[in-house]
Parts: sequence; C-alpha cells; structure tokens
Amino acid sequence: MDLVGEKLCEKFASCVNSRPIKRGTRYRVGVDLGTANVVVAVLDENGEPIAGKLKEAQVVKDGLVVDFIGARDLLSRMIRELSDELEEELVDAACAVPPGTGIADSKATMYVVEASGLEVRNIVDEPTAAAKVLGITDGAVVDIGGGTTGISVLKGGKVVYTADEPTGGTHFTLVLAGHLNLPFDEAEKIKLDEKNQKRLFPILKPTMEKVTDITRRHIQGFDVKAIYLVGGASALYGLKDVMANALGVEVVVPKYPLYVTPLGIALSCP
Ligand SMILES: Nc1ncnc2c1ncn2[C@@H]1O[C@H](COP(=O)(O)OP(=O)(O)OP(=O)(O)O)[C@@H](O)[C@H]1O
Ligand SMILES: [Mg+2]
Repeated sequence: MDLVGEKLCEKFASCVNSRPIKRGTRYRVGVDLGTANVVVAVLDENGEPIAGKLKEAQVVKDGLVVDFIGARDLLSRMIRELSDELEEELVDAACAVPPGTGIADSKATMYVVEASGLEVRNIVDEPTAAAKVLGITDGAVVDIGGGTTGISVLKGGKVVYTADEPTGGTHFTLVLAGHLNLPFDEAEKIKLDEKNQKRLFPILKPTMEKVTDITRRHIQGFDVKAIYLVGGASALYGLKDVMANALGVEVVVPKYPLYVTPLGIALSCP
C-alpha cells in the first residue's frame, strides 16, 4: 500500500465519529453500506478526509439492501448529523456494490443513498474503490467484512475475476461465542478488544484457515504476486501470517482495513 493511501486512512480514522475540526468548500461523500457497518466518508475539495461516521447496522446483507426503510433512516440521520457539523448541505456522493451485482440490486443501493438526500454521481464496485486507496492496479483484493469474504483479482486496474463466500467477521464471533459459551454480542466485544486477540488466536485459527482456503481456491490460475486485505475482520491478530505462510505470497494489511473501501468510494465521486 502506498504512503498516500496510508495517510488518507490515518486522517479518516482521526475524524470518524468525532466533530470535524475544519471546514471545506466543496464536499464529496462516499457511502459504504455493509453487512455489519454503514460508513460515510466526507472529503473536502482537496480530497482530504474531513469528516465521517460509522454505525453498526443490520440493513444490508452481503452487500445487498435487505431493509430499505432502516437503511434510509439510518443513512439520513448520519448525513443530517454530518451536514449540521459541517454547516453545509452534503449533495455529491458515490456508493458501491459488490462486483458482479446486477442492475436491480445496484439501484436498491442507489435509492437508499438518494432517499437520504444525497445525489449519486457514481456507483463503483467495492474492490475497485479499495484499489484506489491502496494505490494498486494488480494483485488480489480480499475483503473480509462482516458476512462474507470477497476475492477480486485485478489486472492493469481492472477487476478480472471476482467471488464472494459466506465467511467473515460474524463467523469468527460465532466460533468464539460457541467456544466461550457466551451470547454473540459479548463474544463480539471480546473479539474486538485488541488486547484479547493474541490469546484468542488458537480458537480463531481454523476460521482463518478457512478464509485462506477460500482465497487460495479463487486466486488459483492467476498470477497474483500480492494479496491486499481490506474489511474490518482483516485486522484480526495473526490472520495475515496464517495467510502469508499458507499461500506463499506477500500479504499486505493496511493499518485501518475497515476504512479503505469507504475512502475509495468517496474518491470515486467526481
Ligand atoms: N479490529 C478488529 N479486529 C477484528 N475484527 C474486526 C475489527 N474491527 C472490525 N472487525 C470485524 O469486522 C467486521 C465488519 O467489517 P466491515 O465493516 O468491513 O464489514 P461490512 O462491510 O459491514 O460487511 P460486508 O462487507 O460483509 O457486507 C465485523 O465482523 C467486525 O467484528
Ligand atoms: Mg464491506
């Protein structure tokens, strides 16, 4: 990942869910509707992250809107809060869908974003958005989100292959909940506390190996020299090494994998 992308993520991380400290003159908004989180990134006229919100929500499943009203209400609230804080109406936005999403499902995502008061200027696919921030044109982008692991192979800046399989952050939490005999929400809290992750590694390793096998299967036949992990679950302690050792290729995990795609979506807004 290049330095520009690292800096963008760092800046965005410092402004997510906190009051913006500066104002811009022209804003571009990126909306990432995920299975676990809805993330909004706001860039100023220089392409610098200036504000952002992240809310947990169950309004989308595997990249597709399942609760239109819930998604609209949540996103409207997030946009209103951001507009109030920036003292300016937010208008121009981009949103994203998993690669290979059909027209009807892409439209559902677009309608949610427009129903929140934004104008959709571009719809991108998630790995292409991520690649913009990673500063790459070739390699595999593996998005380990809440519900699924999405594998995209890029060649010369284009997505040439894509697959999505149902193993993600939720599955790590389910394994932990079963192991510790705790409700899902408590297991999720324990998992997210980075202090615990080293100790949890032996319990979560088989699921990491599953993600690794999924990745291996889908990059087979492509000349992939590096794998870039994005999505919240790729931050898990030990996952990078499990994958790198098993696959024998370079595995890159950005410092803030959760923010790569939302930022790339905002950058895709003209
Ligand atoms: N620091 C962390 N360590 C481990 N897991 C994390 C961390 N931060 C977030 N997660 C996990 O990442 C997942 C959410 O990631 P993300 O926001 O990328 O998913 P999403 O985009 O909502 O889902 P999807 O892409 O599957 O639709 C959750 O399962 C959460 O537990
Ligand atoms: Mg996602």
